[in-house]
Amino acid sequence: MLVLGIESSCDETGVALVDAGGPGVPKLLGHALHSQVRMHEAYGGVVPELASRDHIRRVLPLTHEVLRQAGRSLPEIETVAYTRGPGLAGALLVGAGVACALGASLGKPVLGVHHLEGHLLSPFLGADPPQFPFVALLVSGGHTQLMRVEGVGDYELLGETIDDAAGEAFDKSAKLMGLGYPGGPALSKLAQQGDAKAFALPRPLLHSGDLDFSFAGLKTAVLTQARKLGDQLEPRKADLAASTEAAIVEVLLKKSLAALKQTGLKRLVVAGGVGANQLLREQLNAACAKRGVRVHYPELDLCTDNGAMIAMAAAMRLAAGVQEANRDYAFDVKPR
Ligand code: KG4
Ligand code: ZN
Repeated sequence: MLVLGIESSCDETGVALVDAGGPGVPKLLGHALHSQVRMHEAYGGVVPELASRDHIRRVLPLTHEVLRQAGRSLPEIETVAYTRGPGLAGALLVGAGVACALGASLGKPVLGVHHLEGHLLSPFLGADPPQFPFVALLVSGGHTQLMRVEGVGDYELLGETIDDAAGEAFDKSAKLMGLGYPGGPALSKLAQQGDAKAFALPRPLLHSGDLDFSFAGLKTAVLTQARKLGDQLEPRKADLAASTEAAIVEVLLKKSLAALKQTGLKRLVVAGGVGANQLLREQLNAACAKRGVRVHYPELDLCTDNGAMIAMAAAMRLAAGVQEANRDYAFDVKPR
């Protein structure tokens, strides 16, 4: 049972093929990705119209590339899955339109997937897939959520950000330090040369007693600090980056531990772009090892947006019987 997955919600065009025919977890047969980061760099962020146009240019060549990698042909595809949302409307429409056109022309059903469910299930693509139930920390550019995951499609939201996402906190802080876009990896790299204790930045909602997050105040504090430094920002940049990263990571760590305690679960899955952050991984690994908790991450290259997670989520939803593919090719998307 071959499932093709297409991801086009933001600035990465991703296509992948999984085989859901055998026993156990579906198997990744091939995946290809085109990142638009270079294209958007000059503008300091994603330009939606440019993103849509580039998805149009890339999606079919990537599809052929994936089929070539897997040694398969178009007619062998059984289901065409795509990201239905959330994301940029125009960008989503490209993936949905292509998926439905492919489905219609091949006479095969299609299936729309929630982007975050793709991230959530992405650790199943790795060599060490988690077992249900687990706590999930979803940390991307647009979302920060803690969830209790009982099985495919069975998710309870435990807490989420009330304003900015963790990735946004990285990106916006990086931008006002002049580190470019996307800021997360750049800020994290610079932070390695800095002193994380140099600046006392706030840890919003750290002691709120619930599992919600807030990062808007942190971004403002970074801005205030940068302005105060003025000419001195340049030589202190690494210190400010390290202090910012430490504040974000501490909040994510403490809230994840609180979620594990509250649920009594002994497994944690960390997914989404910020899950690639090395400091977060080190601190979570150390804290969880002490508590007998196993932590699962997606492979590093599958932390950020990709088609493999969409194909995997679709295959797992089909296998679990929580969603059926359909032949209604009159698609729509859900940007929010
Ligand atoms: O999951 P993702 O690719 O896209 C969304 O669905 O939003 O996440 C992108 C986010 C960006 O905010 C990026 O700065 C952040 O993940 N990110 C990182 C790292 N790698 C990516 N943040 C901190 N450290 C990293 N190593
Ligand atoms: Zn994402």
